[in-house]
Amino acid sequence: MNHKKVKVGVIGCGTICRSTYMPNMVNKFNILDVVGCADLIPERAQAMAEQYGIKVMTNEEIYNDPEIEVVCNLTYPESHFEVSSEAMKHGKHVYCEKMMAVDFSEATELMRLAKENNVMFITAPDTFLGAWEQSARFYIDSGIIGTPVSVHAQHTCSYRPANPIFDLSPDSFFFPLHPGGGLPFDWGGYYLHTMLNILGRITKVAGFGGNYEPNMKYTHPAHPKYGENFFVDTPTSIFAALEFESGVHGTFHLTSESYNSEFFEITGTKGTLLLGNPNNFDGSMVLKRPNMKEKPRGMGVPGGQNGAQVARSQLGEFAMPEEMVLPMLHGFNDGSCRGVGLADMAYALRNGRKPRADAQIGYHAMEVIHGAMESQKTGTTYVMTSPFERPAPLATTIAAGITGQEAVLDD
Ligand SMILES: NC(=O)c1ccc[n+]([C@@H]2O[C@H](COP(=O)([O-])OP(=O)(O)OC[C@H]3O[C@@H](n4cnc5c(N)ncnc54)[C@H](O)[C@@H]3O)[C@@H](O)[C@H]2O)c1
Repeated sequence: MNHKKVKVGVIGCGTICRSTYMPNMVNKFNILDVVGCADLIPERAQAMAEQYGIKVMTNEEIYNDPEIEVVCNLTYPESHFEVSSEAMKHGKHVYCEKMMAVDFSEATELMRLAKENNVMFITAPDTFLGAWEQSARFYIDSGIIGTPVSVHAQHTCSYRPANPIFDLSPDSFFFPLHPGGGLPFDWGGYYLHTMLNILGRITKVAGFGGNYEPNMKYTHPAHPKYGENFFVDTPTSIFAALEFESGVHGTFHLTSESYNSEFFEITGTKGTLLLGNPNNFDGSMVLKRPNMKEKPRGMGVPGGQNGAQVARSQLGEFAMPEEMVLPMLHGFNDGSCRGVGLADMAYALRNGRKPRADAQIGYHAMEVIHGAMESQKTGTTYVMTSPFERPAPLATTIAAGITGQEAVLDD
């Protein structure tokens, strides 16, 4: 199909805009046509405009430009609500980087505004449309691990203001220690979107959340505020138990207050799938299942075997756990494909279908984080209220042809 391109205005020309979105929006996805860009720091918008031959605009000019259909909100989380809500009130469809707001009440208001203004609202991360994430869903839906039983996500690291330029200028503004940017939101979004896309709606959350150390210090002697405290106004840790509508149970552990550890897997009645990094489009998945290889002749016959072999043969099918790296079956596997959710939105607008990265998924993920913190406060299990249905899967490269990456969105 030959579609009229969707005109986009970009607000926020910082790190992710420069490194990924702008090159992808201008050069990778043919359905998109970037008209102009704006930033609180005019030089940033100027630099993008010169590099890509687009207009420098103000936020208001973008909201009021009748040609622009979609506002792409790439500001930091504290500005997401302001920019997305203004755009919606001006009748613009909105694509917003993760997470959609700093808390669940702001997110609820954005969902209301999108409905009231009859606009499409899409939220990142869109990495769940990437190669390994879509392939994981395909394999699990095909029964490769039997019936899914549990999911476990752990991402821990240490965020300390030890850098001498920490927060001194917009160039070194570290949003993960500011409202809406804490690790449960910033990295949690990737894990939650991937879990939801594969396993569906979450019904209950019990957990703990907050900050181990809300009063941090500037710890680099070169910093002008060395030794002074600053208040971290965002949850930096969540430990939660999840129950999915399907009966699957899960754990979700994110903290930026400990040392590095990453772990992501789904277990099932017939095997376990070790998942990739949900921040990346490309990655690898390892399947662990018993008896994937043919048994050597004679196995299972005690005569002539050593003790270990006898023990294994007596354990039956659980005696031979084996591992294999699964091949990727989907496109969007080349390093960074951020913006694929925006391109999908553009095809959804032209084809009159539901977008895959609809804010429903981002809102459900926001509610999980909110639920863990409410559970901590009340000492009870939080019952989820938001609806969620898994978005349509993308066609495999077997079905779509390996070169047809963007074309698979035109459905
Ligand atoms: N940096 C990354 O590696 C990365 C990766 C994936 C996603 N993201 C997401 O992308 C978003 C932006 O992150 P970033 O790292 O590019 O941040 P950044 O601070 O580098 O850039 C944000 C830009 O938005 C501008 N801005 C803020 N409020 C504004 C407003 N009201 N009007 C106009 N401009 C405004 C800022 O001046 C800044 O230039 C965040 O939601 C983040 O979660 C970042």
